[in-house]
Amino acid sequence: MKIAVIGCGNMGGALVKGWAKAGMSANLIVTARTQETLDSISKACPDINVMPDNRLAAAEADVVVLAVKPWLVQQVMEEIMPELGDKLVVSVAAGIRHERIDVYAMPNIAAEFGESMTFVEEAPQASVTAGLFAKVGQCRIVPQRLMDAGMMMSGCGIAYVMRFLRAMMEGGVEMGFYPDDAKQIAMQTMQGAISLLRETGLHPEAAIDKVTTPGGITIKGLNELDHAAFNSAVIRCLKAGLKKIKVNSE
Ligand SMILES: NC(=O)c1ccc[n+]([C@@H]2O[C@H](COP(=O)([O-])OP(=O)(O)OC[C@H]3O[C@@H](n4cnc5c(N)ncnc54)[C@H](OP(=O)(O)O)[C@@H]3O)[C@@H](O)[C@H]2O)c1
Repeated sequence: MKIAVIGCGNMGGALVKGWAKAGMSANLIVTARTQETLDSISKACPDINVMPDNRLAAAEADVVVLAVKPWLVQQVMEEIMPELGDKLVVSVAAGIRHERIDVYAMPNIAAEFGESMTFVEEAPQASVTAGLFAKVGQCRIVPQRLMDAGMMMSGCGIAYVMRFLRAMMEGGVEMGFYPDDAKQIAMQTMQGAISLLRETGLHPEAAIDKVTTPGGITIKGLNELDHAAFNSAVIRCLKAGLKKIKVNSE
């Protein structure tokens, strides 16, 4: 199945590199606006077919994945429409609908490393689409009402997790570690916490009980987070994005 990825920036590029690592290079066609981007993707993934012509790419593909900025979707769709026939058209562009787009998907840039958390909106061809995104991480098919929430938790969530890591790093530096060491320590701690939940299936609060001695030091830090309304801040962070999406679509 040939896949044309239209737009090869942060998201399109991550998908292409992830699919290439999954052994799909021979089936990938990639376009971008500038030769510079095409050269850079060719350098990273030499076996991929790159071209500047969206229409030609669409003509040669069975599946077209739109990964341009949302405000360019309409223009690109008009350009490639004559070539679409009954091809599967998937869009990862946030918040933009078009009558000829078959499936909406919301991956994240960890797709490059096979670690995306992708949401695919329920649709007749959602399973085929989910099969593609499952090559670059985990994928869930969800009803339309959960797509924006999925985007906030996963697409945007990467940024929120980075902020938490940065905060841990800064705390580590203040306590005496060099920044690179603090980064490695924060990352490995997060990795360990994730493995703990994955391997045991525990609820995070049950895992917290395992490292919290009554009257000890962990609970002091946890209570400081509560005094600073950490939980509430994270929930509000996710819902603030949702509010903005609603305002934009009104
Ligand atoms: N970034 C994320 O974490 C993320 C997550 C989920 C979904 N998305 C969605 O992914 C889409 C792309 O976002 P992005 O962050 O990847 O943007 P980006 O880094 O700016 O990449 C956009 C790409 O589109 C190319 N492009 C521009 N005009 C084009 C045209 N007419 N024909 C073909 N290609 C064209 C650009 O080419 P040049 O490089 O040559 O300029 C660039 O490679 C957005 O709709 C966004 O909502 C992004």
